[in-house]
Amino acid sequence: MILITGGAGFIGGNFVLDWVGLNNEPVVNLDKLTYAGNLQTLQSLQGHPLHHFVQGDIADRSLVSALLAEHRPRAIVHFAAESHVDRSIHGPGEFIQTNIIGTYNLLECARAYWSSLPSSEQAAFRFLHVSTDEVYGSLAPGDPAFSESNAYEPNSPYSASKAASDHLVRAWHHTYGLPVLTTNCSNNYGPFHFPEKLIPLMIVNALAGKPLPVYGDGQQVRDWLYVKDHCSAIRRVLEAGRLGETYNVGGWNEQTNLDIVTRICALLDELSPSADGKPYASLITHVADRPGHDRRYAIDARKIQRELGWLPAETFKTGLRKTVAWYLDNTDWVRNVQSGSYRDWVQKNYAERQA
Ligand code: NAD
Ligand code: DAU
Repeated sequence: MILITGGAGFIGGNFVLDWVGLNNEPVVNLDKLTYAGNLQTLQSLQGHPLHHFVQGDIADRSLVSALLAEHRPRAIVHFAAESHVDRSIHGPGEFIQTNIIGTYNLLECARAYWSSLPSSEQAAFRFLHVSTDEVYGSLAPGDPAFSESNAYEPNSPYSASKAASDHLVRAWHHTYGLPVLTTNCSNNYGPFHFPEKLIPLMIVNALAGKPLPVYGDGQQVRDWLYVKDHCSAIRRVLEAGRLGETYNVGGWNEQTNLDIVTRICALLDELSPSADGKPYASLITHVADRPGHDRRYAIDARKIQRELGWLPAETFKTGLRKTVAWYLDNTDWVRNVQSGSYRDWVQKNYAERQA
C-alpha cells in the first residue's frame, strides 16, 4: 500500500480518486483537514476497501510512526502543505510549521521506518515530495523557462517554506540515503480546487454576480496544467523516477491572468448566461497588487518527457471547459466549502484592495 499526506486537498484528493480508480493497491490518506481539506471531495470513496482515511497532522511524530508501523507502505507521497500565497503573506506561521517542520517530521519518521525494513523492501521504498515551480522565483518576459538546474530564488513566505522543504528532502537523500523523488509543478486547475485560488474564485464570483478581482495589471503569467495531468506525472515519477532526482512538471501553457479571467467569462457566457444578460467580463475589477508578486512562471518539462515519457493529455481549451462545467454541476461542493471561515478570508484579503 501507499501512504498519501494531504489527500483531502485539491491535488491530493484528485490523486487519491485517480489512484483508487486505476490501481488495486490500498491508500492510507493522512490529512489534518485544515480549511483546505474536505472529506466531501472523497465522498465517492466512502466505505471503499482500498481507501483508509486518517485525520491527523504530519507533524505528529507518534501518529505518523504508528501509521507506518501498522500499514507498512511501500511509498509515501507527500502533498500536505499550506498552499496559498496570499494566506502566507497574511500569516506565515502555519507555513513554517506544516511545510518545514511537518516535512522534517515526516522525513524523520520515514527514515526510521525505512531503516527498519528488510533490504528488498528498503530498495523498493520511495518518498515522493510534491513541490512547486515557485521555488525558482520569477522570470522576466524573454527568460528561458525554469529547468531543474535553475537556482532557488523563492520570493513569498509560501515559496520559501516549500524551498526549505525541498532542501530537507534533498539532504535526507544525500546524508542518510533515503530514496527520495521531488516534483516541481506549475499552477494546477480542475475539479475540487478551493475557491481562494484564481480560477475557481473567478468562476464562483462571476456566478454570484460579484466583482472579479484581478491583481495589478493582470499581465502576470502562469503556466497552467490540468490537475489530472499532474497526478499522472506523479504516478510516473513514483514508478520510474531516478532516486534523488527532481522533475519539473508543466503544461507548456503560459497565460496572463487577464486572459484566463476573460476566457472563463466567455465560457460562462456560453454555458450559464447571467440573468441580466450582461457579459461576465463586465465584472472584471483591477485591485491592489499582491505584495512581492512574481511576474512570470514557466516550466521546461523536457526532462520528465525525455526520461519518463510523460506528457500532459489535456489541452487548456478542453481542460478549462471541463473545469467550468464541473463548478456548474457541483454547486453543493462549492456551497459547503464557502463556510464562515471562507467568508472571513475573503473579507481579510479583498476588503482593503481598492478597485
Ligand atoms: P490544498 O491547500 O488544496 O490542500 C492541502 C491539504 O493538506 C489539505 O487537505 C489540508 O487539510 C492538508 N494539510 C495541511 N496541513 C496539514 C498537516 N499539518 N498535516 C496533514 N495534512 C495537512 O493544496 P494543493 O493545491 O492540493 O497542493 C498540494 C501540494 O502540491 C502542496 O504541497 C503544494 O505546495 C503543491 N503544489 C500545488 C500546486 C497548485 O497549483 N495547487 C502546484 C504545484 C505544487
Ligand atoms: O505555481 C504553482 C503554485 O500555483 C502553487 O505552488 C500554489 O500552491 C498555488 O496556489 C499557485 O500559486 P499562485 O499564487 O500562482 O496561484 P493563485 O491562484 O493564488 O494566483 C494565480 C495568479 O492570479 C497570481 O498571479 C495571482 C493572481 N490572482 C489571484 C487571486 C486569488 C488575482 O489576480 N486575483 C485573485 O483574486
